[in-house]
Amino acid sequence: MQSVFRGRHFINLEDFTKEEVDTMLEVAFDLKKKFAMGVPTPYLLHQSMFLMFFEQSTRTRNSMEAGFAQLGGHAGFLDSSSMQIAHGESAKDTAIILSRFGHAIACRYCNWGYGNKYLTEMAKWSTKPIMNLQCDLYHPFQALADLMTMKEKIGDLKQVKVSIIWAYAESHKKPISVPVSQVLLFPRYGMDVVLAHPKGWELPDWVIAQAKANAEKYGGSVTVTDNEAEAYEGAQIVIPKNWGNWVTDQTGVAASGAVAVVDDKLKAHKSWKCTEAKMATADKNVLYMHALPADRNNEVEDSVIDGSHSIVYDEAENRLHTAKAVMTLLMGGR
Ligand code: CP
Repeated sequence: MQSVFRGRHFINLEDFTKEEVDTMLEVAFDLKKKFAMGVPTPYLLHQSMFLMFFEQSTRTRNSMEAGFAQLGGHAGFLDSSSMQIAHGESAKDTAIILSRFGHAIACRYCNWGYGNKYLTEMAKWSTKPIMNLQCDLYHPFQALADLMTMKEKIGDLKQVKVSIIWAYAESHKKPISVPVSQVLLFPRYGMDVVLAHPKGWELPDWVIAQAKANAEKYGGSVTVTDNEAEAYEGAQIVIPKNWGNWVTDQTGVAASGAVAVVDDKLKAHKSWKCTEAKMATADKNVLYMHALPADRNNEVEDSVIDGSHSIVYDEAENRLHTAKAVMTLLMGGR
């Protein structure tokens, strides 16, 4: 078990060694067991932290808020539109002040080209840990919960075929941060990762290069394809989920949170939906995962997400346990 976590920022899982990620999982499993048994876990008694959101959230906000309370602390929710950020206050000043008031700052800012830079700037000035609740590039809490869920269901993940598959959606333009974090993390556990998407929805080249380097180091593999059928065929885990074509069309600032996201280019790929017929081509015990919220009947048929292969609610629950593990280690560890 690695134990030098206290005071570190949590912006990207690539900043942590595999042994450190293993430790996060061990702590998450322990916290999950204690939660199930009703054993109190007051590891962060009387601490306070701030949860800053530039965008909406259900799972991330509430796993952090409830999780921190269960650890004995108090988390204050901050909607960025009601902060002085709305009048132009800088990331530097916000980070310095809030880090003097409490013990950590967590932030979601998904705006393409801005989110990660904002978090990095806060991390430069904050005297307390900065935690990434999802930015334009990474969603480390989601990827960690996904990893925990896969280990819980399968155990050793070496040579398990996991397919991260682009899916059609109309609900809103989603960041690339979930597939980026997954494609970087899963090869570190020796998984055979297939990334499938239509032409035009590529992840950045540096992401694929790093994912392949991780695979090389840990004995996994990374295959990128525009052939959806190849991704489903024989897969033990499928993660069909929409992401926006942020990288290729560079839509920039106005794109974040946009409602009107449907155009002819997107509509041409309406067939990229997770269906029972496609699931039937996967391994007979295939697991269906999704970070949620799902765009039902666009990304996935109800019969799949509500069916026997779906583990989306276990996946969502693990957001709580992994969030508590990261907060405990960064704020309470030695
Ligand atoms: N998966 C996830 O991050 O969900 P929220 O957007 O509801 O936080």
